[in-house]
Amino acid sequence: MIKKVGIVGFGQMGSGIGQVAAGNGYEIVAVEVTDDAFRTGLKYITKSLDKAIEKGKADNDYKQKVLGNITGTTDLHALADCDLVCEAVIENMVVKKQLFTNIDKICKPEAIFASNTSSLSIGDMAAVTDRPTQFLGLHFFNPVPIMKLCEVVKTLDTSEQTFDVAFQFAESLGKACVTAKDSPGFIVNVLLVPYLLDAIRMYERGLATKEDIDNGMMLGCGHPMGPLTLTDFIGLDTILYIADIMFEEFKDSHYAASPLLRRMVNAGYNGKKAGKGFYDYTKK
Ligand code: CAA
Repeated sequence: MIKKVGIVGFGQMGSGIGQVAAGNGYEIVAVEVTDDAFRTGLKYITKSLDKAIEKGKADNDYKQKVLGNITGTTDLHALADCDLVCEAVIENMVVKKQLFTNIDKICKPEAIFASNTSSLSIGDMAAVTDRPTQFLGLHFFNPVPIMKLCEVVKTLDTSEQTFDVAFQFAESLGKACVTAKDSPGFIVNVLLVPYLLDAIRMYERGLATKEDIDNGMMLGCGHPMGPLTLTDFIGLDTILYIADIMFEEFKDSHYAASPLLRRMVNAGYNGKKAGKGFYDYTKK
């Protein structure tokens, strides 16, 4: 039975997971590298809750409940009695393995470990712990409070019991869950990333303007955002990172990043968070 949830990495994704879990009654311990980083995560939550209130999707009592269920710390030892620990730290295997090696020694033996990685091997992370059967992927989507999906990812070792408990946990957050294998990109990114890469190639070849590419998919196919706006929203660096991992794994040109994407990332055009990507976000 999950009551207390540890979230390691309280950025955009970690704070989103913390927000929905706290809103559904779980006690959240958020671990960040600095107090400032934790406060930034709390600011994302406050902003999202204020927007939800403005849209009539939540009230002030709910906001207080969410904030009241979250404590922040820089000390991994605070995770000792968590029932589930979900990491959402930087997409770097060395960092993730080090984290799981450390918390494996700290957390109670029955605790379940989850990673919110979008493309790295969950099995490789599980292998550094003494609890590979209690390890799986819980891949949420950005913005977590709004996007309905969670991919629940099974490794070769994940036990049925762990899978069922984690699946029910994600459902208790109001998410619709799909079951995915531990293969790069799981379900959604295997389909989404080549589509975004194709849109970038189309723009790079000068076949249409960025606005027309985006409007084409929004107005012609009912997508809430066009592919170039969505790439800005997710982060060009993130898309490049995922594409490179999938290309490395599958050796399939579907996942090959275009020169333009790589050039933009190298020049710091990382999308909305950087203030510039395919569009300029500094003027608004
Ligand atoms: N809390 C709760 N509900 C909220 C909310 C909040 N903070 N903010 C908005 N909402 C609700 C609104 O009330 C509205 O609900 P209804 O449809 O019932 O009216 C709905 O959410 C949409 O809100 P808005 O129309 O105001 O839209 P927005 O401009 O605020 O947000 C968006 C836009 C939701 C981000 C939308 O553009 C969208 O869905 N974009 C696509 C995002 C996407 O594809 N994400 C996945 C990225 S891939 C990923 O994350 C995985 C990976 O590994 C890379």
